[in-house]
Amino acid sequence: MTPTDQGGAPGDRIPVWDLPIRLFHWLLVADLAGLWWTATHDDLALHFKLGYAALALLLFRLFWGVAGSDQARFARFLKGPAAVLRHVRHMVAPGPLPLERGHNALGGWAVVVLLLVLLAQVGTGLFAVDDDGMEEGPLAHRVSGAAAKLARRLHHANFTLIQGVVAGHVVAVLFYLVVKRENLVRPMVTGWKRLTFLPADAAAAASGGADRSGWAPRGRAALLAVLAIGLVAGLVAFA
Ligand code: HEM
Ligand code: HEM
Repeated sequence: MTPTDQGGAPGDRIPVWDLPIRLFHWLLVADLAGLWWTATHDDLALHFKLGYAALALLLFRLFWGVAGSDQARFARFLKGPAAVLRHVRHMVAPGPLPLERGHNALGGWAVVVLLLVLLAQVGTGLFAVDDDGMEEGPLAHRVSGAAAKLARRLHHANFTLIQGVVAGHVVAVLFYLVVKRENLVRPMVTGWKRLTFLPADAAAAASGGADRSGWAPRGRAALLAVLAIGLVAGLVAFA
């Protein structure tokens, strides 16, 4: 097999993450930093606003996972146990990994875990009441006082879980960089990945070369972002 069989020569760039995914990712990282800061510095008014932003980001990511670019679609990157095991075998074997134009079989499930723990955090926040009962999430008045206190406890406990999951996420990214010599961060910043020489089973993944056709139109992303923001605004207004 020649490098050309892989859809391009080593050094060529292939498109991986579209702008909406990259914006989603880095805005989410910044938002979580702000949520943590405001929660620990007693600025609950701003904490709520950043929490609504997190909900809009997560809703957008769910929409984009169904109607977005190929690499963003859940149906494309969520694979069965055989594919996950195959990837784990590649991870522990020496040498480079097969090329992926998006999440690998294991990383795909990590995305689901990340999204679920974050959604749980927003969900519990919406119903939580603070320790002195002065501030409460917009849906807290719809449940009993005991339930709102439980939501607060879950909100605290789940944040510890989030810290663990995010730490695992960053360690995984570092593992790929240091052990597998694969820089995943660059594509998450620029959108593009450089081709290296690839093992035979990578040919299918690489095919398509620099074809950007898998990236959905940005207009669709803008529309879905407006829908996500509208839904959150509606929730807050009519809570
Ligand atoms: C992913 C999004 C969120 C994260 C990471 C987050 C994080 C946190 C953390 C770490 C705390 C605890 C601070 C402490 O230990 O005292 C906290 C408290 C709280 N958060 Fe959130 N939060 C999020 C979303 C929300 C949302 C959407 C709401 C409601 C609109 C909300 C409402 C509250 C309330 C009411 C408290 C209780 C403060 C207290 O215990 O006195 N949070 N949040
Ligand atoms: C608050 C912290 C973070 C959260 C909540 C988070 C969340 C996520 C999520 C949900 C994805 C999936 C992207 C998608 O398909 O939507 C992802 C991917 C990714 N994240 Fe993060 N992330 C965090 C911090 C970081 C940091 C600090 C780095 C850099 C060191 C990083 C690097 C990446 C990379 C490279 C990917 C793509 C992985 C791949 O190629 O499959 N993340 N992250």
